[in-house]
Formats: sequence, structure tokens, C-alpha cells
Amino acid sequence: MALQQKGMHGTWVSRWTFIMAATGSAVGLGNMWKFPYVAGSNGGGAFVLMYLACILLIGVPVMMAEVMIGRHGRKSPINSMRDAVDDSGADPRWGYVGWMGVAAGMLILSFYAVIAGWALDYIFEVASGNLIGVNGASAGAVFDQLLNDPGRLVLWQTVFMLLCVGVVVGGVKRGLGVAVEILMPLLFVMMLILLGFAVVKGNFSAAWAFLFSFNFEALSWRAVLEAMGQAFFTLSIGMGAIMAYGAYMPQNANIGKTILVVAFFDSSVAIISGLIIFSIVFATQGVEPSAGPGLMFISLPVAFGAMPGGVLIGSIFFVLVSIAAWSSAISLLEPCVAWLIETKNMGRITANLLLAGFAWLLGLGSVFSFNIWSEYKLAGFTFFDFLDFLTANIMLPLSGLMIALFVGFVMKEEAVNAELEGTPSLVAEFWRTTLRYIAPVAIAAVFVMGIYDKFLS
Ligand code: PFF
Repeated sequence: MALQQKGMHGTWVSRWTFIMAATGSAVGLGNMWKFPYVAGSNGGGAFVLMYLACILLIGVPVMMAEVMIGRHGRKSPINSMRDAVDDSGADPRWGYVGWMGVAAGMLILSFYAVIAGWALDYIFEVASGNLIGVNGASAGAVFDQLLNDPGRLVLWQTVFMLLCVGVVVGGVKRGLGVAVEILMPLLFVMMLILLGFAVVKGNFSAAWAFLFSFNFEALSWRAVLEAMGQAFFTLSIGMGAIMAYGAYMPQNANIGKTILVVAFFDSSVAIISGLIIFSIVFATQGVEPSAGPGLMFISLPVAFGAMPGGVLIGSIFFVLVSIAAWSSAISLLEPCVAWLIETKNMGRITANLLLAGFAWLLGLGSVFSFNIWSEYKLAGFTFFDFLDFLTANIMLPLSGLMIALFVGFVMKEEAVNAELEGTPSLVAEFWRTTLRYIAPVAIAAVFVMGIYDKFLS
């Protein structure tokens, strides 16, 4: 029984390692690539405020619920979820939630590796000096060149996937624990260096005004929903990643406080990325904050190419993005690896290679959707867009909603209370109310609007 309690995968050395691991999962392309352009497209300030509100009122409570299920079961998300269901005498179909999370994780990993590959490629693209003095059009052409070269995309996708396998093969303590404890602080240091550069060389005051002047007239209802979707993705909620990491969390760590720290780090990185990117964007002529997904890969090189020291600063920036993507992708792989080890009695290396191989193969679909398959559409989507839509707008909100309802209403009180030990009762009550009522209604709204927007409007 004592062995069972500890779980078969081991635990983090300390609460701090959990914080670093969870932050590593949360901070990724979602913060550095997606947050700035989504905020930019939605007019800045008011969107940022909504995003932060969503993190606090929806993200944090749901994230706590995921950690609880994970730490209660101490297994892979699928099995932890099943244990919680069995324990509570609930309908076994609740167990599908774990499955959906793990499936979403695999699908996301497949295209996440491709985009992370762009960042890896850009380390060398910028370092080579090719982008010195480029304007918007020529930077766009350089980016298109990358997208139109399947061989180059596959190369970086493969390199990225191998980097992930390397860490996850090492196991929880040796691999994940050590990696995140080195990578995350390094990331913060590099961000601060870049922020310093942005303050000195960029238009920092314009960036600040853009992100923190709350013009509510520019904020549409849809933008509020986008802010919430971003909150989900950025915190890695609804995919089992945080559940899997929760399974390795020391029993004496306070879940609420710990998750608040993680959410704080995650939001800080998003805001700092925004400040860096917009400081540079506003200091560069012809680059708009609303440039969309190309904001980072097309516009920033223009800025780096025009600035003194831009080759070095630009390369550091893409190293940083790659590191952040790396520690996020690790958390997409780990839940499935843990599950194969538990249930199929598979070795860690075999499980890793099998799953990474599967995600890699599926990722080829995304690679080709930017070039040789760009004409092929599935319900109006390219392969990449389809996976992105399926995971972010369907699977993620659905499993997030289920987790909120399960822990809020179905999971055995005793088990929930045991996980809340040490939490002041007022805080616990606030959490429960938010999880039961505010989060489910809000998540359902994202889900309905996502489908409505895409297919019915
Ligand atoms: N949170 C990561 C990001 O913001 O880039 C993406 C992510 C990682 C989502 C892990 C889900 C996950 F399980």
C-alpha cells in the first residue's frame, strides 16, 4: 500500500521541482508566439485584462482540479482518472475524460513539434545573418521559403522530437526534473536580458500603453472567448499534462498556492513576451501589431535585422522560444508514456520511441499541409488547421468542462478534502464555487462559440 501511495513513477524531489515542471509545461509557444499575436489582433489592453481574469477565475480552479485527480491516483492521467471514478462509485464513462486528454496531447504534440521546428530553424536563419536589413516582404519570403521546403521542416521537426525523447527517456527525476530545473531559470534569465534590450532599444512605452490601456470599446464578445481559449491552452489544461505532473507532486505541497505560483509565472512570461515583441514592433516601421500568426516569424526578424546587435539578440530569442516549446512538448509526451509503462508493461525507452514515432508520423501531415498538401482540405481546413481546431476548440474545452464537473460534483468529498489539506476553508469554498459554477458555464460558452463561429455563423 505504501508503494501504491507513492506511485510507480516516483515523485518530484520537491514542490519547487513541481513548480518548475508545471511552469515548463505551461510556458511555451502559447506564451511567446501565440499570446502576442492574439492580443495584437484583439486590440491589446482590454483583451489582456480578460485573459488574466480567465486565468484566475477559470484556469487556476480547473488546473487545481487536474492536479488533485493526478495526485490522488499517482498514475498516468487515464489510470488516475479511472481510480478517482472507481473510488467515487461514479459512472465508469467518466473515465473517458482521461482518454480524451491523452489523445489531445498526442495530436497537439504532432503539430507542436512542427512549429517548434520553425523556431529551431530560425535560430540558424537569424544567426547566419541572412535576415540583416530585410523588410516585411523579404522576411515574409524567407518564411515562405521555409514553409515550402518539406525536407527542412521534417529535419527540424525530427530534431525537436528527438530532443523531447531524450529528456523523457531519462524518467521523472533524472530526465524531467533535472531538465526543467536547468531550463526554466535559464529561460527567465534570457527573457530578462531581452526585456532589457527592448527597454533600451525598442519603443517600450508604446508597448506598455498597447498592453495596459484598457479600451473596452475595442473588445468584442468573441475576443473575450478567445482570451479564455488562450488561458486554457497556455496553462496546459484539459490534456492530462498537469494531471500527470500532479501525480508526481509531493503529498505535503499545497495545491492552491503551488498552482497560483505556476499561473503567475505563466502569465508573466506571456506579458514579458508581449512587451518584448511589441517594443520591437513599435520601433520598426511597416510592422503592425495585428499581423497575426506571422508576427513572430516574419515581423520580428525585420526588427532584429534593422537593429544593432540584432543577429545576436534575434538568435537568443529563438533559442528561448525553442527551450520553452521543448519543456512544453515533454509534458505532452509524458502522460502517454506513463500510461504505456503502467498498462502495457512497456519499458520507458520503447514507450517513448513508439509514441514519439507516432506523433512524428502524424506531424508529417502538418508539415505537408504547408506545402505539397496545402490544397487538400478537410471540412475546409488544411490538416494542420484541422488538428489545431479539433484540439483547441473541441477536445480541450470538452475535457476541461468534464474535469470541472467531475471534481466539482462527482469526486468523493473525502478525496477532494484530503487533497485540499492545509487550505483555509474560505479559500477552499471559493475554489469549489468557482469550479462548480463559473468555470463550467464559461467553458461551455467557449465550446459553443467555437463551433458556432466556425460552422454556423
Ligand atoms: N501550454 C503550452 C503553451 O502555452 O505553449 C502548450 C501545451 C503544453 C498545451 C502541454 C498542453 C499541454 F499539455
